[in-house]
Amino acid sequence: MNVFVTGGTGYIGSHTCVELLEAGHSVVVADNLVNSSAESLRRVERITGRAVEFIECDLRESAAVDAVFASHRFDCVLHFAGLKAVGESVAKPLLYFENNLNSTINLCRAMAEHGVKKIIFSSSATVYSPDNVMPVNEESRTGGCTNPYGWTKFMCEQILRAEAEARGDWSVILLRYFNPVGAHPSGLIGEDPRGIPNNLMPFISQTAAGRRDHLNIFGNDYDTPDGTGIRDYIHVVDLARGHVAAMNYMEKVTGTEVFNLGTGAPCSVLEMVRAFEKATGVKIPFRIAPRRPGDVARVYADPSKSLRLLGWKSELSLEDMCRDTWNWQSKNPDGYGGDL
Ligand code: NAD
Ligand code: UD1
Repeated sequence: MNVFVTGGTGYIGSHTCVELLEAGHSVVVADNLVNSSAESLRRVERITGRAVEFIECDLRESAAVDAVFASHRFDCVLHFAGLKAVGESVAKPLLYFENNLNSTINLCRAMAEHGVKKIIFSSSATVYSPDNVMPVNEESRTGGCTNPYGWTKFMCEQILRAEAEARGDWSVILLRYFNPVGAHPSGLIGEDPRGIPNNLMPFISQTAAGRRDHLNIFGNDYDTPDGTGIRDYIHVVDLARGHVAAMNYMEKVTGTEVFNLGTGAPCSVLEMVRAFEKATGVKIPFRIAPRRPGDVARVYADPSKSLRLLGWKSELSLEDMCRDTWNWQSKNPDGYGGDL
């Protein structure tokens, strides 16, 4: 298939491009590079030995999006583009609503105009209400988001559902990611956060590399076995493969389907620190700090629907996640800023 990948120079998008190319699909990427580097695609080309067309484009500009569709023939859209920093979304809510919603609306408009009927959207476990019993499945309650970023995901899901409903012949897949971590085993592509990382894994790996003095563990008084927060960490390569499985599934169906992409295996912050130390042999100094506002004790997936309908499940272990993160971090101490 000819696949249009928005946000394809970013962390998850670039890993998905590798899996798409290796599955024999052709890929065109559009990104405005607000949180990524086009160098990632040169690395994707190096891994796969195949070319990727890159278009620098801001999806908020509807004429630019239309021009991309007018000059290509796409079978399917994978929509990764979006802003994703929770704290920034609290400080700049309009930026988040404007960017994430308008991009999705412009994309839908161009799809309709040019007869493209299949789209896979990068949603998040953050759309589930914090008061659900764990594990969450696709029927669990959504809403009650604790920040504007979460609401943009919730609202984009509504926009895409409504559009699929109105058009009748569209196929929309909403993939709710849990906590993507890790990197391609080649060490050529990985997560390259700007500034001080908000998320656990990049913070651990930067601490291991000596860029951070120590890790702050946000709370050890949760109602969990070791008192630290529990999440569902999933290797980004498994996550990327979930998109290829979803594309295959889409061939057969119309309407909207939602899938959790997680492992279903709960893991605490302390367990992750220990797993990283074991996989890499590098000690992670840490301190117990106060709870982070907005955090909940535990979030993890019931991924059984993805296995049942997509034939997909995560294959890679916590050890793989830690080893591949460290391989990427140590080979690219400055992310894409340094040469490999
Ligand atoms: P990322 O920031 O690495 O990738 C997103 C890409 O979108 C970036 O390359 C950025 O430059 C691009 N972009 C943003 N606004 C754009 C615009 N207006 N026009 C064109 N390009 C634009 O993030 P990621 O971790 O790869 O996440 C990909 C998607 O998955 C995002 O939508 C994110 O919200 C979602 N998601 C991520 C996580 C996670 O933990 N990483 C979890 C759940 C959902
Ligand atoms: C965070 C976002 C969520 C988003 C997700 C994307 C918040 C409140 N939630 O989720 O909306 O969808 O990222 O991946 O920001 N931790 C530490 N020390 C750190 C960093 C994290 O102890 O320096 C702990 C956290 O308290 C949590 C766990 O590690 O228990 C995972 O944190 P993180 O990687 O930020 O992911 P989420 O909180 O699941």
